[in-house]
Amino acid sequence: MIVSNIAPPRFMEFFRDSPPEVNLDAIWSAHAALRGYYNPNEWVLPLPAWAMRPYDDSGEGVWATLQACLESQAAATANDPMCIYIHVPFCTRKCGFCDSYSFHLKSHRVERLDAYTDRVCAELELWSKQGALSQRPVSTVHLGGGTPAYLGERNLSRLVECCRRLFNTNPATEWALETTVESLTSSMFTTLHALGFRRLHLGVQSMQDEVRTLIGRKRPALEVIERVEAARTLDWIVSVDLICGLPGQILREYMAGIQSLMAAGVDGFSLYELLIRRQNYRWAEAQGLTERSHVPNYWMFLAGAYWLEAHGFSKNLFNHWANTRDRNIYFTFPTRGEDLLAVGTIAYGVFGDYHYRHPRYADYVGLVSATFPGLEGGLRRNMAERHFQPYLTGLLAAGGNGIFSETLPAQMSRWTACGLIHQNQTGGFSLTPSGSWFTGNMIHEARSGFES
Ligand SMILES: C[S@@+](CC[C@H](N)C(=O)[O-])C[C@H]1O[C@@H](n2cnc3c(N)ncnc32)[C@H](O)[C@@H]1O
Ligand code: SF4
Repeated sequence: MIVSNIAPPRFMEFFRDSPPEVNLDAIWSAHAALRGYYNPNEWVLPLPAWAMRPYDDSGEGVWATLQACLESQAAATANDPMCIYIHVPFCTRKCGFCDSYSFHLKSHRVERLDAYTDRVCAELELWSKQGALSQRPVSTVHLGGGTPAYLGERNLSRLVECCRRLFNTNPATEWALETTVESLTSSMFTTLHALGFRRLHLGVQSMQDEVRTLIGRKRPALEVIERVEAARTLDWIVSVDLICGLPGQILREYMAGIQSLMAAGVDGFSLYELLIRRQNYRWAEAQGLTERSHVPNYWMFLAGAYWLEAHGFSKNLFNHWANTRDRNIYFTFPTRGEDLLAVGTIAYGVFGDYHYRHPRYADYVGLVSATFPGLEGGLRRNMAERHFQPYLTGLLAAGGNGIFSETLPAQMSRWTACGLIHQNQTGGFSLTPSGSWFTGNMIHEARSGFES
């Protein structure tokens, strides 16, 4: 749980210079509706299955279980689409604010990048021989990180060739990657386009240049806009990540940033609060951020979310606002009941109700071989988790759609009363902007309600 006892500024004081596009009434009402049941300082991070309890199997045991399961389901699943996720943990440098598992290679860079690509290709080769995996239509190949572009054009081409040769990628497959503006040079962009990539997850974080400098982004906001426009000209789908709570951040600039990105043609916005964890604690301490109230960040988050909703963007993930072009295919795979083949260090995937995960870099590169995909552990959903799965999917991956009032009446009526969910046009429920902030709390409550 994220906790802070620091007193927030007064509402009117925080919004004193608020630009006209901020929907003050909506933000005030959303905060008031929490009625003390929910506190923006006490939001809970939504956690994946493997982080909630120990693995059932480890190492070779996971692989034996997965092989048996993929073999027994081969005929039944041969036509079922699946996603491929490839994790690349490397970056040009480690940003102080970042809490992701990513790092800079201090030595033998070229050799290590080549060796990592070799390992990932070996892993893909191994998976492709299991059950019907090589036949299943691939809905997306998503490269996440870290900064996958850091692998370089040659290694990226090798990865793409490997996926195309081993799996059933087709013209409908969406090729996507996460990157920084700095790594997206025009040569890299040309290569990516030629390889078939058509979706960009750009880690923008902030469009305020002073903030960008403080968090180590080398390129100005103007260059972000140039990249977005270049990608949109070639009909790519562009999604951006923005963070609330960065040092020196100003509401007016935050809103202006969203507007300029929208005007440049961005299709989807993922909004985050700056998380402070072990990985970035020292940086946060140096920035004076460890003793903070989360309330202003909550307000800023709501301001952005209401603005996006007023301009036709709607959620297809708890914290992602998208236009109709942006299906966000990788992040929403559970809503389509798809499996996820994930490869690379710390990548986690799922087949049916079996979740598996890879270890960190050093273990991963030591473990992957022609007969073992370097797995760390795996677990099968137990009875309670199986029943709970549709709620988890509904809350997390569907932006609140698919939560059912008849099964959790007490929770549903509290969430409605506290303004975390509202009835949508189809009669179902969706998360409000405030609900997006408290999704982890709702998951925790739903899980407890289910188990009791
Ligand atoms: C795994 S990173 C990869 C993106 C890419 N390397 C970049 O830096 O732009 C994905 C996203 O996680 C988010 N993120 C990283 N550190 C965060 C933190 N401490 N709190 C909240 N979000 C964070 C950022 O918005 C980032 O774009
Ligand atoms: S924010 Fe992106 S570029 Fe920076 S360390 Fe994290 S993953 Fe790497």
